[in-house]
Amino acid sequence: MRNPLEVEFLGVRFPNPVVTASGTFNYGKEYAHLYPLSRLGAITTKGTSPRPIPGAPPPRIAETEAGMLNAIGLENKGVDAYLKDELPWLKAQGARVIVNVFGESPAEFALVAGKVSPYADLVEVNLSCPNVHAGGLPYAHDPEAAADVIRAVKDATDRPVLAKLSPEGPTLKVAEAAEHAGADGFSLINTIRGMRIDLETKRPVLGHKTGGLSGPVIKPIAVRLVWELYQNTDKPILGMGGIRTVEDALEFALAGARMVAIGTATFADPYAPIKLVQGLEAFFKDRGDTWLDWVGGAQVR
Ligand SMILES: Cc1cc2nc3c(=O)[nH]c(=O)nc-3n(C[C@H](O)[C@H](O)[C@H](O)COP(=O)(O)O)c2cc1C
Repeated sequence: MRNPLEVEFLGVRFPNPVVTASGTFNYGKEYAHLYPLSRLGAITTKGTSPRPIPGAPPPRIAETEAGMLNAIGLENKGVDAYLKDELPWLKAQGARVIVNVFGESPAEFALVAGKVSPYADLVEVNLSCPNVHAGGLPYAHDPEAAADVIRAVKDATDRPVLAKLSPEGPTLKVAEAAEHAGADGFSLINTIRGMRIDLETKRPVLGHKTGGLSGPVIKPIAVRLVWELYQNTDKPILGMGGIRTVEDALEFALAGARMVAIGTATFADPYAPIKLVQGLEAFFKDRGDTWLDWVGGAQVR
């Protein structure tokens, strides 16, 4: 019997469409004692840069109604540490790996992408990170700057490249520019900037003052953007934003997501990714159709 959840995505075969979202699963080690990482479709690793970054001051996370704010400040150990300690270990688990990369310039993105390529099934390019050469405005706000990054990464790696899109800025224009520059597929959405202020201290709750909003509260925005992008491109889409349940995942599939990532839900329940795999397995058992039959199936009158 065929596995109804199997997905081919940019030439890579995944046993199911469930992926962990970058920055919400580290490099997987903390979860490997809970379930085999190879049971998930893929692990997307924490954003990785050429050099270590200490990150933002605490507090870094705050709860909100139906979501979460985070300002981690792109903290990571730097690519060389992950090449030594984490990526070989993760591949040895039998997991499929999407490596999320970023840098301060197109050349820095390319450097990281080139180094991680032997371990990456796909490379995901975080276009939401600040472009230090444009006053810190994220690449995602400037289609030409985003295209420069994608071009540099494509030159540096033989792995398929996903442009990770932000819901802020001209998302579809950035997607179009990224596609012209050679992006093989897309992942979306990243977080949306938000803020909380403490009534006692009258100070921002987060150390960084503002942070990225994620979780169920952003899901309708994500579904809308996946759906709009699906009308505009033939490239495959990895959808995310507030996914927790089987119904959430199917909604993204109908909008056009060929694979789906689960992020914030893992903070509330570390079993959330494996539960989503199991839930989808149960849903498609004995139905006769498959996950791929749902992809892009939204009916628009
Ligand atoms: C704590 C945290 C850290 C994140 N770090 C990254 C990152 O390093 N790179 C990136 O591209 N996205 C990062 N994201 C965004 C997620 O990968 C995802 O796009 C977003 O949270 C929406 O999905 P969700 O609502 O399921 O969390 C981060 C999100 C959270 C909550």
